[in-house]
Amino acid sequence: MSDAYSGRGTKDASVVNPRRGGDMQPAHHRSGPTPDVSGAPFLEGHAMTGGYGKGPDILHDCTIAVNPGEIAVIVGPNGAGKSTAMKAIFGMLDLRGGKVVLDGHDISALSPQDRVRAGMGFVPQTSNIFTSMTVEENLEMGAFIREDDIRPTMEQVYDLFPILREKRRQPAGELSGGQRQQVAVGRALMTKPKVLMLDEPTAGVSPIVMDELFDRIIEVARTGIPILMVEQNARQALEIADKGYVLVQGANAHTGSGRELLADPEVRRSFLGG
Ligand SMILES: Nc1ncnc2c1ncn2[C@@H]1O[C@H](COP(=O)(O)OP(=O)(O)OP(=O)(O)O)[C@@H](O)[C@H]1O
Ligand SMILES: [Mg+2]
Repeated sequence: MSDAYSGRGTKDASVVNPRRGGDMQPAHHRSGPTPDVSGAPFLEGHAMTGGYGKGPDILHDCTIAVNPGEIAVIVGPNGAGKSTAMKAIFGMLDLRGGKVVLDGHDISALSPQDRVRAGMGFVPQTSNIFTSMTVEENLEMGAFIREDDIRPTMEQVYDLFPILREKRRQPAGELSGGQRQQVAVGRALMTKPKVLMLDEPTAGVSPIVMDELFDRIIEVARTGIPILMVEQNARQALEIADKGYVLVQGANAHTGSGRELLADPEVRRSFLGG
């Protein structure tokens, strides 16, 4: 099988998910498929229709899914509804149609807080850290639902993002954009999520920092935590995507492997600048 990850994120890291610890292969690179009796995706927002409050529908029959070991990427123009789709999956929006299924359970009725307890980690597009708190306090806040010892997870986050260990006593607001995004991702990892959702994790960072963040995200995926992310750097994101979704006006416009979408003339012309 070709390897979309070749040359990226090759450093070993034992991130966060003890059940899959040491197993660094994405599910689709192991021999044999991940057992899945139902055949349904691990996390799926299925045929989602809905909008904000009593306003018009923003999402129209929109389906987004991700499986263990996968990185799924949502791309599309500004205002397409990418963040809205993420918020719908996280329970911040009342759906008028469709459902959200996690690990075989319909979680459509759960609050965002209960979805965190059910295993969702979510890093929103904006206001995703507490700027006046230190880096370490941010990570502690991330673990708010846990009653067990959070130190080992914190060490794993520091191993993944060594700069955060150095700056752990600094207010997060003093960090660079890329470092703040590391805090945000680290905070979400502190809950030991079964799936990680990231809304534009590389927004506003330089191309070099973007590459580094993507490498870290690949490392997390390799520990077995599926990743669903929105990205404005469509081409680079599709290069590391197992699955890609192009959203237009709240609806699925194109769906395929990252490779397929990168090769699709229509996708290239309309969304990737040729
Ligand atoms: N809190 C809100 N209340 C009402 N409408 C909203 C709200 N947030 C977003 N919208 C509207 O929903 C539509 C989709 O917005 P959304 O933020 O999901 O797009 P996006 O694809 O994430 O865009 P971007 O690339 O700029 O992040 C837009 O028309 C926007 O104005
Ligand atoms: Mg958005």
